[in-house]
Amino acid sequence: MAKEIKWYKVVEHLNMLQFEPNSMCVVEIDGKKITIARHNNALFGFAYKCPHASGVMVEGYINALGNVVCPLHRYAFNMQNGRNVSGEGYYLKTYPVEERADGVYVGMEKAGFFG
Ligand code: FES
Repeated sequence: MAKEIKWYKVVEHLNMLQFEPNSMCVVEIDGKKITIARHNNALFGFAYKCPHASGVMVEGYINALGNVVCPLHRYAFNMQNGRNVSGEGYYLKTYPVEERADGVYVGMEKAGFFG
């Protein structure tokens, strides 16, 4: 069964997101930090910390191929699906991000009743 997504509005307008020079910023939803990246006019959401050894992704950079690179050991991840494109076998949790007429939304899986 597909997981249900709950959408959270993080700002009223895209230009309220404080992107760093590396085109990433951090938002908080229910106390959970999420990285948002902007690349080629698309928005991507993914975990605050790297799955390898908890590098803070917002301190990394987006490489020429449009993958996010962790600042600690330079593992690279596809921002769309979290695939570890540098081949170490990790997976970066991703979140859908949508720019809508009334704000920017991040989708998170709803916690199910049965786990
Ligand atoms: S902590 Fe991110 S690559 Fe090691």
